[in-house]
Amino acid sequence: MIPVANLRPAILQAETGWRNRLDALLDRCQFILGQDVREFESAFAAATGARHAVGVASGAAAIEISLRHLGITGPVLTSALTAPFSAVAIQAAGATPHFADILPDTLQIDPDDAGNRITRRTAAIVPVHLYGQPCQIARIAALGRPVVQDACQAHGARVAGRALTRFSPYAAYSFYPTKNLGALGDGGAICADNAATARRLREIRDGGRRGGQVSYVRGVNARLDELQACFLNAFLPHLEEWNQERRGLAAFYDAALRDCPGVRLVERTSDSVCHLYVIRARRRAALRRYLAERGIGSAIHYPVPLHLHPAFADAGLKRGSLPHAERACREILTLPLWPGMAVSQASQVADRVRTFYSGTQ
Ligand SMILES: Cc1ncc(COP(=O)(O)O)c(C=O)c1O
Repeated sequence: MIPVANLRPAILQAETGWRNRLDALLDRCQFILGQDVREFESAFAAATGARHAVGVASGAAAIEISLRHLGITGPVLTSALTAPFSAVAIQAAGATPHFADILPDTLQIDPDDAGNRITRRTAAIVPVHLYGQPCQIARIAALGRPVVQDACQAHGARVAGRALTRFSPYAAYSFYPTKNLGALGDGGAICADNAATARRLREIRDGGRRGGQVSYVRGVNARLDELQACFLNAFLPHLEEWNQERRGLAAFYDAALRDCPGVRLVERTSDSVCHLYVIRARRRAALRRYLAERGIGSAIHYPVPLHLHPAFADAGLKRGSLPHAERACREILTLPLWPGMAVSQASQVADRVRTFYSGTQ
């Protein structure tokens, strides 16, 4: 059995670290905004190259709080190919998600299409670094609107050595358990270079308070909790090594599937931290069934482009309006990948895919 992801090797690798931290936390009994969150915020900022990091309750909260800080309520442009939570977060901030198409080779948001869809009313852009690969963020930032980067799948990613926060004031991360850096529950963070911004983001996540019981600004309750920070502090020192493992496995799949009929590879730069390994597959449903019958898991990230979700119909985009995203959603398939996965397992997966398309199954 080869699942699409397996968290156990990473959890076991960091076990001593999180057990010690949990013991110390249970002695201290301060479960909200204490030592582990503070320590994690410093360490995560350093790991991403940002000056500040603010721990929050989820990736969606990280995007929402950034937009709240901007005070944005109008249309906000994001990619049509992303997790629904990119758009859910825009709605939670009181804004309306609008969508741009993707580049068919990389599946990242298309800066030209985004530029064409900007109107006078467009209040902000939430570009997504999908599957761990930075999108063309410099071009998005040049479109002249405030930018909140959805880096929920891109922990540790930089653009030609530059931290993501050099391109826009906010980079939002999710610590959903399967991410490159995951908690054992929900969690998130906002990275920022500006100290005043970071200070205000800390107030917004904590009910608008400044440590006491007076709310100074309109806030939400979306704090990262100490329990999750214990796990994150224990996992963070392994992030680089785990990202390298992901890169190695993705490169292995690329080489094994490059000339496989029926498979189209997704283009990646060396900046990618390879959160997911995604191919475009002909006869996808049949391939998935074939793999499942042989004990191999797969997934689809994501089956429906966001403009066709009933909850996001406000954008007013009908089927056919974002053709690259719509076609990608019919073809993309996520193959198994996790830190600690053996190359022999990736080899088995690639062999099965090749056999399926060779017609000898
Ligand atoms: C691209 C993207 N954006 C936003 C989110 C939302 O993160 P969370 O689940 O932590 O709220 C996720 C993760 O699910 C994601 O993958």
